[in-house]
Amino acid sequence: MSNQSHLEKLNAEMLACTKCALRKGCTQVVPGAGSEDAKILFIGEAPGQKEDATGVPFVGAAGKFLDEMLGIISLKREEVYIANVCKCRPPSNRDPLPEEIATCWPWLLEQIKIIKPKLIVTLGRHSMERFLPGFKISEIHGKAMRREIEGVGRQVFYTLYHPAAALYNGSMRETLIKDFKRIPKIIKKIGQEEKN
Ligand code: URA
Repeated sequence: MSNQSHLEKLNAEMLACTKCALRKGCTQVVPGAGSEDAKILFIGEAPGQKEDATGVPFVGAAGKFLDEMLGIISLKREEVYIANVCKCRPPSNRDPLPEEIATCWPWLLEQIKIIKPKLIVTLGRHSMERFLPGFKISEIHGKAMRREIEGVGRQVFYTLYHPAAALYNGSMRETLIKDFKRIPKIIKKIGQEEKN
């Protein structure tokens, strides 16, 4: 099966998911969007109001900022993949609960297995904690790390502040843009390491 049909099948299964209570309170499941062959997988927290209304991740103010940053490194959102640790909007945009993240995890794991990204970029604390527990985002943002994911193997992670948190905070915004600009170099380094 091609990556595209594999992902389409997974998306159809996700759209029918009722495994946790979040589905009852939201409009629709937001599986993810982008290229099934993406080198970079961006993982945010959970859909907000606009994402819940459209079914597309990162289309609100934070999403516009993400698009802007992708533009700075000459990428379009169609060339990467964008997903969330929780596929359904939490009520009033509250933080996703650990049990909701855990229930949604098999979907994200399947997305990672199909896309096989060279780099996973976590956006915000909740996404970071899912893969790099025990770290502080203020200490590891902007640093690439190799870690094992159960069922996937070694994977390179890069932690960024969440675009929504950085949007109206001048110094965090500067830091996020600076970290974001390092992504092409990290991808290049991963490519070189693969050749050796
Ligand atoms: N914030 C997220 O973490 N994900 C989205 O899809 C939108 C906003």
